Amino acid sequence: MTLLILGIESSCDETGVALVETRADGQVPALLSHALHSQIEMHQAYGGVVPELASRDHIRRVLPLASQVLGESGKHLSDVDVVAYTRGPGLAGALLVGAGVACALGAALGKPVLGVHHLEGHLLSPFLSADPPEFPFVALLVSGGHTQLMRVDGVGRYEILGETIDDAAGEAFDKSAKLMGLGYPGGPALSKLAEQGDATAFKLPRPLLHSGDLDFSFAGLKTAVLTQAKKLGDELEPRKADLAASTEAAIVEVLVKKTLAALKQTGMKRVVVAGGVGANRHLRKQLNEACAKNKVRVHYPELHLCTDNGAMIAMAAAMRLESGQQQASAEYAFDVKPR
Ligand code: KG4
Ligand code: ZN
Repeated sequence: MTLLILGIESSCDETGVALVETRADGQVPALLSHALHSQIEMHQAYGGVVPELASRDHIRRVLPLASQVLGESGKHLSDVDVVAYTRGPGLAGALLVGAGVACALGAALGKPVLGVHHLEGHLLSPFLSADPPEFPFVALLVSGGHTQLMRVDGVGRYEILGETIDDAAGEAFDKSAKLMGLGYPGGPALSKLAEQGDATAFKLPRPLLHSGDLDFSFAGLKTAVLTQAKKLGDELEPRKADLAASTEAAIVEVLVKKTLAALKQTGMKRVVVAGGVGANRHLRKQLNEACAKNKVRVHYPELHLCTDNGAMIAMAAAMRLESGQQQASAEYAFDVKPR
């Protein structure tokens, strides 16, 4: 029997809806269609995400996006077997929109619902690609709010090997970008500017690089970038690309070296990168080179599925249900877990 899952993501500034279908032959579930509305433009004027505006925009977008994915896949709402939504972490009001809509649809259709952990969505997003990974693997989860190295033995079988003790890698990109005046979202902007810069121009710290464990720390790097920017003063403008390139190189070097250390520690030969920072070109290039040298297979989500989307939520729900790790529930008194 196959299951048709409607997934809804609304944890932050992207409204995502998708349809994923499990397969009778036990193969990786298939993505039938997905649609996304990014609120980036709306928040840009404020230099960051405004939670109240985010919630209101999710309300405006979510049902039209659901109609869109149903239309594109030739499915009808009554074909949906399970409605999945992001339960957390994220902005409380934003999460409540997705959860509320999912539970209302579930109740109206008489179909069960399933709350999904946002990070599990990211973690399993490489299974949406044409060449999905096999278990077990090491995962490098790098988003705006999290930086973790994990040992992944199967669906729901996750062991954290190391994580950031302060800022996340995405935060390091965003905060550095902000103090260089690059606006929001900073990561992609900093990375784009870095392409024209000299990564050896500024000596920036590689926090915890030699700590001997698999933890990360990026708060000191941000401070070093701030100090450097202040020192440059009026000279910052012409040197901005160099500072961006040096910042990106510092973040990426730590991520790559620690990932290699995690592979060595676990003896694994496969790594999966997930989360928004996984879209970073320099990270992909450096990691690909390091993995090739060490005969390690590396898997990424497709570029457009690195940042938040509904497909990863529908996929995580599908994989959880198939593995028997969790059951969808007809209990519609929902809650969300912002943290
Ligand atoms: O996974 P995500 O969409 O949201 C969270 O769950 O946090 O990740 C967003 C983060 C932001 O910090 C953003 O700046 C960063 O991913 N990001 C990038 C790039 N694209 C997105 N950072 C560096 N280079 C990129 N190309
Ligand atoms: Zn995310």
